[in-house]
Amino acid sequence: MLEGKTVILGVTGSIAAYKAVDIASQLSRAGVKVDVVMTEKATRFVSPLSFRAITGRSVTADMFDASSELNVTHIALARAADVVAIAPATANVIAKLATGIADDVLCCMVLATNAPVVIAPAMDANMYENPVTQENVSRLKKRGFVFVGPKFGKLVSGVEGLGRFANTVEIIGVISQVLGRGGSFADRHIVVTAGGTQEFIDPVRVITNRSSGKMGYALAEAARDRGAKVTLITGPTLLTRPVGVEAIDVCTAEEMLQAVRSAISGADVLVMAAAVADYRPRTKAKEKIKKEGAGLTLELERTPDILGEVKGDFIRVGFAAESENLVENATRKLRRKNLDLIVANDITAKGSGFGVDSNRVTIIGKDGKAESLPLLHKKEVADKVLDKVAKLLTERYKER
Ligand code: CTP
Repeated sequence: MLEGKTVILGVTGSIAAYKAVDIASQLSRAGVKVDVVMTEKATRFVSPLSFRAITGRSVTADMFDASSELNVTHIALARAADVVAIAPATANVIAKLATGIADDVLCCMVLATNAPVVIAPAMDANMYENPVTQENVSRLKKRGFVFVGPKFGKLVSGVEGLGRFANTVEIIGVISQVLGRGGSFADRHIVVTAGGTQEFIDPVRVITNRSSGKMGYALAEAARDRGAKVTLITGPTLLTRPVGVEAIDVCTAEEMLQAVRSAISGADVLVMAAAVADYRPRTKAKEKIKKEGAGLTLELERTPDILGEVKGDFIRVGFAAESENLVENATRKLRRKNLDLIVANDITAKGSGFGVDSNRVTIIGKDGKAESLPLLHKKEVADKVLDKVAKLLTERYKER
């Protein structure tokens, strides 16, 4: 979604300005053309040279810079932007944008652009909570400006409050989401499950598996970046919840089933990337089980098969983690669970499967055609899977 896009990164005079260097760096690495526009006060915190070195592009900090090339004037930048992100944004700049004051190169550029504008405020909590700032923020929101943060936390003054700059992942997440608006999945609702479930033995012990949730989270983010409304039903993971996605936390297979049932009504696609436990203890001990004797036998029973139980008119995508006969086993699962697609991964392949960032998968369709992909980052795998889902959605909506 980000690759090839032009993001104008506005940097204003906040102590958090140095964090914008990381945002510029990560966007550039994702293939974005990042044109940085700085206020004069921002240049006191970070040198334009840092941004120039990171982005490999000229930085605009002075409206009257005689050496500035004609094609980087604020008007040209305003026209070239796919999105403008002001990060960090001070109370002063927010006030100027809310009232249309254009006395610096950044505010001029925002006034002149038709691109969506993302604002990540960073300031003292009292400044942010001041009614005048709140009025300015709600005015901008009404005009369609998208805010990310600020967050509650420790501020430069040493006190805790609402004013902390959102983190790089959140800001880039919101930029991606804004870029994805009106994308190929616009008006579509996708439900994704992720992570492993946990089945209780007693109040402190569980049966679970090694799923990290990374594949499901990558799918949720990729669907969001294509403009979809996304519900992510997640087992316990260490991952940060993606921004712009409704996340529902569950623990057991039974809870996941209930969450999928209520989310799926009216949805277009269900992607079951979760590693659902197939068995759970028949009973959950009320108290912590004390050790007695040399061994312990647990009696297990089957968990509900979520894909098997959830019925409805939506595209069904399953995952198959296999250690042998990949295509045959996965195709059998596809038929048994009446799926439209199954993503099979060989968990014995190097760099693939649980806990790692990459995956080597084979995607099998209802017609039995199998496409084997090379070892890819889970984000790339997510895009390949969604390319196939996009085709299925197009066919489905053509038929209606
Ligand atoms: N799945 C599910 N409910 C379960 C178990 C699995 O909906 N109780 C889903 C998984 O999320 C996955 C697909 O079914 O999308 C296949 O999961 P897998 O565990 O590999 O398949 P099983 O049918 O359980 O077969 P087996 O464990 O025998 O390989």
